[in-house]
Amino acid sequence: KQSNVIAPSILSADFARLGEDTAKALAAGADWVHFDVMDNHYVPNLTMGPMVLKALRDYGITAPIDVHLMVKPVDRIVPDFAKAGATVISFHPEASEHVDRTIGLIKDSGCQVGLVFNPATPLSWLDYVMDKLDLILLMSVNPGFGGQKFIPSALDKLREVRRRIDESGRPIRLEIDGGVTAANIGEISAAGADTFVAGSAIFNAPDYQTVIEAMHKELAA
Ligand code: DX5
Ligand code: ZN
Repeated sequence: KQSNVIAPSILSADFARLGEDTAKALAAGADWVHFDVMDNHYVPNLTMGPMVLKALRDYGITAPIDVHLMVKPVDRIVPDFAKAGATVISFHPEASEHVDRTIGLIKDSGCQVGLVFNPATPLSWLDYVMDKLDLILLMSVNPGFGGQKFIPSALDKLREVRRRIDESGRPIRLEIDGGVTAANIGEISAAGADTFVAGSAIFNAPDYQTVIEAMHKELAA
């Protein structure tokens, strides 16, 4: 297992004060920034693109930015996100015509690469590309919106992916996204995750630091 990372999803931040709100979450103890890109095509919602990521970098955000692409097609937007300052770029295999090619494209752009699994997406996508991945992201909600409830079947899936990562012997991060709170993060960690996305649990709270500290405390327990 890699060291624990808490990645606030700025989907739930105040878009009118995005730089300030992102900096606030980082100052409150967050490790990464989770950046949800939705295209109103692969998922029924529309969020932000590379220009917004670049604006965060220009504002002074230096933390790793974890780009979660919920877009179709994937390939043509990858270089723009790399240039804008993405650290990790993850995509959904169903949204790419050629999964191995997209993985190569992301790596060639200088970013780390992640593959994302919806709640009902089979893990067989991993069979031939596991050796190329830096991160595996399991969705514990159907993608498109923040503030949804954690789907419990994600726990068994986490255990299965944890087993496969350990077997591979490679330092692949195992990230979980959707419905993560201070109340369930302990059990999610026990199932094998090391990287935790949390949107509404952090940004809808009156004090980000209290929530992030509570999460770290559960992870240390
Ligand atoms: C959903 C996004 C998530 C979302 C998580 O499609 O990928 O990152 O923002 O939000 P919460 O933590 O509120 O479920
Ligand atoms: Zn996400």
